[in-house]
Amino acid sequence: MADTEGTKDTKDYFLDVPARHDGFYLKGAHQLDWGMRNRLARIFRPASGRTVMLAIDHGYFLGPTSGLERIDQTILPLLQYADALMCTRGILRSTIPASFGNGVVMRSSGGPSTLKELSNERIAVDIDDAVRMNVSAMAVQVFIGSEFETQTVHNMTQLVDMGLRYGIPTLGVTAVGKNLTRDARYLGLATRICAELGAQVVKTYYCAEGFETVTAGCPVPIVMAGGTKLPELDALTMAYNAVNQGAAGVDMGRNIFQSDAPAAMIQAVGKVVHELLKPKQAYDCFLTLKNEQAKAGK
Ligand code: R5P
Repeated sequence: MADTEGTKDTKDYFLDVPARHDGFYLKGAHQLDWGMRNRLARIFRPASGRTVMLAIDHGYFLGPTSGLERIDQTILPLLQYADALMCTRGILRSTIPASFGNGVVMRSSGGPSTLKELSNERIAVDIDDAVRMNVSAMAVQVFIGSEFETQTVHNMTQLVDMGLRYGIPTLGVTAVGKNLTRDARYLGLATRICAELGAQVVKTYYCAEGFETVTAGCPVPIVMAGGTKLPELDALTMAYNAVNQGAAGVDMGRNIFQSDAPAAMIQAVGKVVHELLKPKQAYDCFLTLKNEQAKAGK
């Protein structure tokens, strides 16, 4: 084991130098196989290199989350605005039309409900089913610093191995436990571990201080998780800051489907992510779309 006493503080992130990614538009993906790059291209729009991923997988541990009680009613109208959808295989088979042509990121870990220790997750799908469902990536929760840290890292590395066999990328999702600090040092640790151990994409939370060191220190694309519902302007500002500081888009759930105008919100998020529209302008866009939709009775 390495001696960790007196470790030097990190500082050389070369923030003004973009990471090299010769031959493909996504960081760290230029040496992957064709199938894996093709799947990544279904998630990340080639024109911008970023994604608006709509996360609706909350039911895998929360049950019928507010806004997701009837996915056929509330989420299907949003699919046209999502570059990718993150959901469980149960929702994919039961509710999402097979004609959906954009990326599908399948939740592939699970086990404990919100009533139990959440880090005690296992792999929850067989690679054969991921292939059968033609998914673009498999998502696995990694609980760095939690009770079952090693088990969840092992879940991820097993999925990475299986995914490499079939050209399916793995999205490592850094979980934040109740007792863990959501700062750049922690998020940098968790995201880097996911990438070092093979995840082709990493999802993590935004932090106000030093998020650019989190993205710079991670050799693969990072997508920003939305977290609990914020006022729309705040959520758009957070998305703008994350993308401006190196995130390759967002994987947002509650800040979209719990908005009082979800279709307007996901379109405004898209303007931020793909066009780098400033938060205030994106919020104006949200209000305009919201009013138009209200007039149209949608
Ligand atoms: C949670 O563990 C799931 O991965 C969610 O998909 C994730 O938290 C993103 O959803 P939200 O934006 O609502 O946080």
